[in-house]
Amino acid sequence: MSSTDLIQSELSEGILTLCINRPDKKNALNLAMYQALADGLREADRVDAVRAILIRGGEACFTSGNDLADFLEAPQTGPESPVMQFLIAISEARKPIVAAVNGVAVGVGVTMLLHCDLVYAGSSASFQMPFVNLGLCPEAGSTLLLPRIMGHQRASELLLLGEAFSADKACAVGIVTAVCPDQEVLATARNKALQLVAQPAAALRLAKSLLKRDYAAPLRETIAEEVAQFKERLKSPEAAEALQAFMQRRKPDFTQFG
Ligand code: COA
Repeated sequence: MSSTDLIQSELSEGILTLCINRPDKKNALNLAMYQALADGLREADRVDAVRAILIRGGEACFTSGNDLADFLEAPQTGPESPVMQFLIAISEARKPIVAAVNGVAVGVGVTMLLHCDLVYAGSSASFQMPFVNLGLCPEAGSTLLLPRIMGHQRASELLLLGEAFSADKACAVGIVTAVCPDQEVLATARNKALQLVAQPAAALRLAKSLLKRDYAAPLRETIAEEVAQFKERLKSPEAAEALQAFMQRRKPDFTQFG
């Protein structure tokens, strides 16, 4: 499939929908997909006809996060890399972003939600940020945003243990705006996006930027620092063991590393 098939983009009624569509790999994001998402988000900011952005996955899966096979290759992490372009585009988007989450959201599938303005999740959706479990470190500004949203201990629980958690928990800790029956998530998210489309666009953009004003600069810095550390972690024996274990469908053994 080409990147345009893997990220389907459609503009209708003022909403630019970006649909993650790689079901055979649980919507894992490869570099072409990050680039397509970054391009879509940038285009949305440029084009007047776009008044809101809707990010969605499939019915069974939002996204399983970064393509783990890509982590085994020499990763690109410079400012021009697709991952960085995506993180900058989503964290600095001027127009409102709504997300519709069904099924699994893992890794960046969760941390990207921290940059969305409204997030609707199905009651059976499942969330997980297993960065530490993979010998890596959290990314996408999550080390700044998660404790800000929910406090240090609750952020530590989600990041240090890296366990899966439910939609109700995601809502209780502030990652998700509201939980709906699975089959209503998309319609709910779309209706909320339509409400945003009808709002005065300049006032909406101003409110969004003011909401983020006090942490915009530290967020940019945190994203850059996390990416630099992430790149180093990818070379670590811990990450090598975790990634090999995933590919070999076995449990990783970290007892050999101090
Ligand atoms: N990167 C690359 N491939 C992935 C992937 C990812 N993040 N997530 C799933 N896949 C692939 C699997 O390798 C498998 O491919 P195959 O059929 O060619 O063997 C296919 O998608 C289906 O995955 P599977 O694990 O069989 O599905 P599941 O329903 O049992 O579990 C997940 C779904 C998402 C819970 C599980 O795949 C998972 O934990 N993935 C890794 C998530 C992750 O660690 N992401 C990175 C965070 S930093």
